[in-house]
Amino acid sequence: MAYIDETTINAIRRKHPIKEIVERYVSLTKKGEDYWGLCPFHADNNASMSVSPRLDMFQCFACKKAGNVFNFIALMENISYGDAIRLLAKEDGYEIGRSIQKEDPHIKDYEIFKLAMKYYQNNIYSKLGENAILYLRDRKIDRETIQKFEIGLSISKQPLTPFLLNKYPLDNLIDLGISNTDGKDIFNDRIMIPIHDMNGNPIGFGGRIYQTKDSSKYINTKATELFDKGTILYNYHRAHNKLTKDESIIVMEGYFDVIRASTIGVNNCVAPMGTSLTKQHIQILKKITNHIILCFDGDEAGKQATIRAIPLLEQANMDVKIVRLEEKDPDEFIIKRGREAFLQKIANPLNALDFKMQVLGEDKNLNDTKEASIYIDELLQELAKEKDEILVELTLKKIANRFQMEYETLNQRFIKYQLKQKSIQKTNNPNIKKEQKTPNKYGQATNNLLYYMIISANVMEQAESQVMMIMDNKKRRLFNEIIYYYHKYGELVVADFITYLTTKTDVIDTFWEIMNQNLKKTYSNEEIVDYIKCVNDYYKKNIIDKLKLDLKKETDPMKQANILKEIMKIRGVKTSD
Ligand code: UTP
Ligand code: MN
Repeated sequence: MAYIDETTINAIRRKHPIKEIVERYVSLTKKGEDYWGLCPFHADNNASMSVSPRLDMFQCFACKKAGNVFNFIALMENISYGDAIRLLAKEDGYEIGRSIQKEDPHIKDYEIFKLAMKYYQNNIYSKLGENAILYLRDRKIDRETIQKFEIGLSISKQPLTPFLLNKYPLDNLIDLGISNTDGKDIFNDRIMIPIHDMNGNPIGFGGRIYQTKDSSKYINTKATELFDKGTILYNYHRAHNKLTKDESIIVMEGYFDVIRASTIGVNNCVAPMGTSLTKQHIQILKKITNHIILCFDGDEAGKQATIRAIPLLEQANMDVKIVRLEEKDPDEFIIKRGREAFLQKIANPLNALDFKMQVLGEDKNLNDTKEASIYIDELLQELAKEKDEILVELTLKKIANRFQMEYETLNQRFIKYQLKQKSIQKTNNPNIKKEQKTPNKYGQATNNLLYYMIISANVMEQAESQVMMIMDNKKRRLFNEIIYYYHKYGELVVADFITYLTTKTDVIDTFWEIMNQNLKKTYSNEEIVDYIKCVNDYYKKNIIDKLKLDLKKETDPMKQANILKEIMKIRGVKTSD
């Protein structure tokens, strides 16, 4: 088998410490914790190349060549990265075929799914598929949409398994959740919706009944090595490709919600398949955007799912907005109220706080003084968790207005809850500390922070919980890849992270930019706090710039005054009230 998986590559790498490999070619001198020598990749008379046993990588600070053992050998021997892996593998006695490429071990499985999809698609356009097409037409799903989402049909009279058995063994089909052990199809007479992984490889199906009254409306592919509901989001691969800079991803509940939205040109929707949004889902979303709109069903279950999802997204420092619908689900909303109404909805989502305000008030009689006072208390406790000061102030004013209370009375009570919340946060995270001086270069702070996140799990955790937003797109991608990698493997071994990034060409350049800064490997907690503050300040500055633009456009003097107040608030200038 030509393919070597990442685990094996990492195991091979671990057997060959960078120092040993480099010393085959260059003599090294120890200085501090690192070794230094003449860089073999440029005319060097300064010993510009360092070799770090701790990071298991080499780095020339003059010509900027850097990497793990495989990069070093590839450069020395003028061979590819894959061949460098093969060379070292051979020394270890691994027998690996001619070409090592970054190939997925499941390529054959995707082929099977592609063939199955084709087969189901042929079915739906056949004579026996007429009723399914009619069913979909009734649901206002036209041919173009059927094609776009590669929707097909399983027909018990035209089973898939015998067809696939011409080419593939039954065991394979059983493992993939296509056939059962008797060699029969799992899906019978259902409308087949293909499901893909985040790279767009087909890995399963959702099958919907359309003419019988079966007990289960949908059957999905069972959990397999490829198909894990907790990490898969329906339509992610299409939404991802369509996403423009800073656009949100809209999370819906069902297949048909996502499909319907696309019929009105809203293509940035995904759906977890009948499960709650998991932390893994969120990590995957975070790779492509920080902005999430939750647009779940309009019923109680949808409300509860929203309540569950918000804290998870907030913990991941995502910007969460919520759309609540007056219909059963997005599908029905769009059919009944049309495109414009839906676009209006997603253009004006609630922020999490407004949503909580709504929800907390829903089961109470707010004309009753006692219930109103409970409501206000609950609200203030929620508000105390909010980091955005503008939002807090605006909300306090809203509450004061609504219940005709003195702002100060409310504010006093709020401060009490805020202090309580701060002490909770302090015990959870002793690193939130006093104000720090601000270095003037935001970019440098970002770079430094990323560097220390890469070499230290502690810094990574601190940054994950405290950084509000990295404004630079490329650096944000690296930031998210670091966190993703850390969550996936439980640690980040720099030399292995290089292997992981090798195929991600857009991120690896940024990675090297960060690594090539020649920073010291030790850091103090103060420095890290400083960097995070600086990064967050830059984000705040950007909000202020946006507000200034709003200010220019605003003609109402009252609203202008409010915007000004917000700006001063972010800047930390005290206003009269
Ligand atoms: P819904 O019941 O809201 O489905 O479940 P829906 O999208 O509105 O379906 P239609 O419009 O009646 O066709 C939401 C999602 O939960 C999963 C599916 O992914 C579905 O899209 N689900 C639901 C199942 O996996 N199995 C079920 O039996 C029901
Ligand atoms: Mn639904």
